[in-house]
Amino acid sequence: MIILGIETSCDETAAAIISANFKGISVLSNVVSSQIALHSKWGGVVPNLAAREHLKNILPVIKRALKTARVTPEKIDLIAVTAGPGLIPALLIGVNSAKTLSYSWGKPLIGIHHIEGHIYANFVGKNQKSGIKFPLLCLVVSGGHTQLVLMKKHLNYEIVGQTLDDAAGEAFDKVARILGLDYPGGPIISKTANSYKLKANNYKLAMPRPMINSKNFDFSFSGLKTAVLYETKKHPELIKNKDYVSAMCHEFQQAVIDVLISKTIRAARRYRPKTIMIAGGVSANIELRRQLGEKIDTELKNTSYVIPDMTYSVDNAAMIATAGHFRYQSQKNKKILSSNWKKLEADANLRLK
Ligand code: KG4
Ligand code: ZN
Repeated sequence: MIILGIETSCDETAAAIISANFKGISVLSNVVSSQIALHSKWGGVVPNLAAREHLKNILPVIKRALKTARVTPEKIDLIAVTAGPGLIPALLIGVNSAKTLSYSWGKPLIGIHHIEGHIYANFVGKNQKSGIKFPLLCLVVSGGHTQLVLMKKHLNYEIVGQTLDDAAGEAFDKVARILGLDYPGGPIISKTANSYKLKANNYKLAMPRPMINSKNFDFSFSGLKTAVLYETKKHPELIKNKDYVSAMCHEFQQAVIDVLISKTIRAARRYRPKTIMIAGGVSANIELRRQLGEKIDTELKNTSYVIPDMTYSVDNAAMIATAGHFRYQSQKNKKILSSNWKKLEADANLRLK
């Protein structure tokens, strides 16, 4: 079956076409129009600016996805769109575009939870042959979410731990701002941290690892961000020093990674998953990918480790179409999807269930 995926929950306007059959899933096109340049001067996403940009881009992006995939609207069997959570002005553009196309093309429509999309990014691309086994534990780390999600089977989610304040990606973005680096902070902090040289540690930076010893599987990153702020306020002159900034990026990134890994391993010891996966924008972090893999290799010998292709780690619509495929397969009454253009609502606080 051919599925059109649409994603507009934050600052990427994205559309993708996938083909799903008994052999697996092929991504025929995956178009992402990023608004980073628009928002970077504000240091974060401005919802109304994002909505205006989505409105401008959504139809050209969908058209390009169809053209690249060499698919005409008649060939589409299902439309899958991010229904939430996210910025409501942004979500409304994607959801209303999808409803309009569903009505005018006469195609079934399905609403997808954005985090479900991130999780299902692990089921597309090279991972399809990796035989992901349940139960699985997924570390979800994005700009808006940090959660440990246990899945006993497809589309079945139990949140066993989550952040009590900032999400991991949010902490990367806020710390980048403190250090005078661009938005989004994750890729820049990661790159700056990689340029860190041992000799730069003359600064003896020791940031906290919040909640690393707590027995539950919850996280907290706002204190870490504040610790970076206080440290830099003590030495404002050092912000212009490249060695200092790279040492701080390295220490901050390692503090986040230490906590994420420690909680994931502890949750795995408790729930004994057969597979551990990562999902969300922060899962593009090379050090997190590498260090978590090493830890699972040494400490959890019988657990396999699955990471999404880099292209599908950050926001995209192929992951939404893939989640749409799994949801469609599980839907007993497929007929009701044809009238979803009347019923589907964007929901900024949609819950994962
Ligand atoms: O999943 P995503 O694209 O959007 C949301 O659903 O929020 O995640 C965006 C977040 C941003 O906070 C960004 O700074 C972070 O992911 N991010 C990274 C990296 N690439 C993106 N964080 C750390 N290292 C990276 N390489
Ligand atoms: Zn996302």
